[in-house]
Amino acid sequence: MTSRLAGFHKLSRRERLEKLQRMLQLTDEDSELLQDSPGLPAELADRMIENMVGVFSLPMGLGLNLSVNGRDHLVPMAVEEPSVVAAVSFASKIVREAGGFQAEADPSIMIGQVQVAHYGDPTEASNRILAAREELLALANSFHPTMVRRGGGARDLAVRVLPAPEGPSGEPLLIVHLHIDCLEAMGANLTNTMVEGIAPLIERLTGGKVYLRILSNLADQRLARASCRIPVELLTDGHRPGLALAEGIVQASRFAQADPYRAATHNKGIMNGIDPVAIATGQDWRAIEAGAHAFACRDGRYRPLSTWALQEGSLVGSIELPLALGMVGGRVNVHPGVKLALRLLRATSVREMAQVFAAVGLAQNLAALRVLGSEGIQKGHMALHARGLTERQVEAQAASSSLKQSA
Ligand code: MEV
Repeated sequence: MTSRLAGFHKLSRRERLEKLQRMLQLTDEDSELLQDSPGLPAELADRMIENMVGVFSLPMGLGLNLSVNGRDHLVPMAVEEPSVVAAVSFASKIVREAGGFQAEADPSIMIGQVQVAHYGDPTEASNRILAAREELLALANSFHPTMVRRGGGARDLAVRVLPAPEGPSGEPLLIVHLHIDCLEAMGANLTNTMVEGIAPLIERLTGGKVYLRILSNLADQRLARASCRIPVELLTDGHRPGLALAEGIVQASRFAQADPYRAATHNKGIMNGIDPVAIATGQDWRAIEAGAHAFACRDGRYRPLSTWALQEGSLVGSIELPLALGMVGGRVNVHPGVKLALRLLRATSVREMAQVFAAVGLAQNLAALRVLGSEGIQKGHMALHARGLTERQVEAQAASSSLKQSA
């Protein structure tokens, strides 16, 4: 078997499938698996990526009970892990009884980076760039007049001089940041077009050579925050008092704050909520993941994206993370399943969508910590195993039992 399939991309999808079928001796049943999914017809998928041979499916569930800033949202979640949808629904129900999540999101400012080398004196080069601020912003905006007409576009410019990674013998790095308001778009193409567009002027201004021109996924000008305040009684599971469960959650939060090994898992739990809704709504979830983890490490130490504390008889949770989302452009305009998912989500703007995502992350985290800080996640699983069930049956039952609690 070879992976060198010259001209594969030039074949039609049918020819690609036939070739695969011959090469791998696929049965008709195998080939069936690669066919259309109702959410994404094969011809559309074929226009989305290269060498397309099939459509991959994931279950899509609906997270329930979510209320953010007094508005209800159904949360479409595309995910393979059992209990994730149930956990969001369950925690959102508790928070709903406590008045719901409060959330806010920054304007959609993306950062585009331009790397300049061989520029001579760093201070002089920086000053020349900063002195040409207006000219650079106008030039950047000239590459996207429609965005400017809609009220977005390049807003600001900053220059950063970074120590050379090889030590004092190397040239310090001169990095220009362009801040661009992408409004309702995620803005990757817009940002990349603008930084590529201004690069020649930066070279002329500095006499240097520009290398990389690309957006940063550490979208820290585009943060979303969500919080909730839950009277501890609402946390009870019927056996344990709410205060005991709240104390477990606070201990879990302290653990994540003190230890990056735990913080990584704590944040994975948060992304268990955010990634599925990102996938269902056609977002670039790799960008969201990259941004979240870089932000978690912003002061040089990897930290949890959320924290929990007890305040006057209530458990108070908050989360903050970058969320570079789009409601226009990219997959959003193409994928019929994504269009439907966006209708279910009922966000009227990208900022509202970011608020919902942040709340979903916090809900998922609350559900995980409530179990981890008390009985532990395996205990329920183990009891079911003891009854001689298979792993699949265990997972199905675990999911449905938390769903029952969330209903
Ligand atoms: C499992 O997918 C996610 C958890 O590990 C999250 C956490 O530990 O906080 C349960």
